[in-house]
Amino acid sequence: MSGWVQIVGIGPGDDALVTPQVQAAVAEATDAVGYIPYVERVAQNPNLTLHASDNRVEIDRSRHALEMASQGKRVVVVSSGDPGVFAMAAAVFEAVEHGDPTWRDLDVRVLPGITAMLAASAACGAPLGHDFCAINLSDNLKPWDLIDKRLRLAAEADFAMAFYNPRSKSRPEGFEKALKTLKESCGDNRPMIFARNVSRADQTIKIVPLQETTPDMADMRTVVLLGSSQTRIIERNGAPMVYTPRSVDG
Ligand SMILES: C[S@@+](CC[C@H](N)C(=O)[O-])C[C@H]1O[C@@H](n2cnc3c(N)ncnc32)[C@H](O)[C@@H]1O
Repeated sequence: MSGWVQIVGIGPGDDALVTPQVQAAVAEATDAVGYIPYVERVAQNPNLTLHASDNRVEIDRSRHALEMASQGKRVVVVSSGDPGVFAMAAAVFEAVEHGDPTWRDLDVRVLPGITAMLAASAACGAPLGHDFCAINLSDNLKPWDLIDKRLRLAAEADFAMAFYNPRSKSRPEGFEKALKTLKESCGDNRPMIFARNVSRADQTIKIVPLQETTPDMADMRTVVLLGSSQTRIIERNGAPMVYTPRSVDG
């Protein structure tokens, strides 16, 4: 049988949110490549050889997957959420573009998954119900000035926003700077949603008015959503429902 690479998204955590298409790819695969905790989640297939690696070696991991597929292996590259959202799919294509020319002829596919912002949005209502954007707040792969510019322009355009990688131990100051920019640029008290460990047993959802937010409310297990100026909160017994209306008056 000839080799292939399928870059699969295993969703935000709940096994019920792994698509049947991804389950089928994992069942057929000979090898699984990815960040250690994600590869461990697909470890239930006894025929699968696991190649777990650290989070910072995405291009090496991609080359390894492509080399194995060239040798006839059926390789799944595992990402959390969706593989096309701040994850392995772009890294594999970068390796294809700059790597061995024969890799361009390999069977390489991306199998989508449920990304953290959509699982978080569903957990509290529909805050991304109108136009929105997603921004990775890590400045490991881009300069902070560009992040700051995008935050200001997204606020000016009145997008709802989703923030991935908000705050890590090695970058504790970034989210503080992001909040300062957002408080100034938005100027109001729209809701910010801190969704931690979404779809897992220890999921928490906190809805906080923007001007009352503090940097310690987020960590690397949190995806943060910010409403637009139109976003509404429905108070009720139990958790409130947050939504952004489908229309904006012209
Ligand atoms: C490198 S990005 C990967 C995103 C992933 N490809 C996706 O589509 O969800 C990692 C970031 O995703 C977010 N994230 C992933 N899974 C999450 C979950 N279950 N709950 C909350 N945030 C999550 C966090 O912001 C985390 O820092």
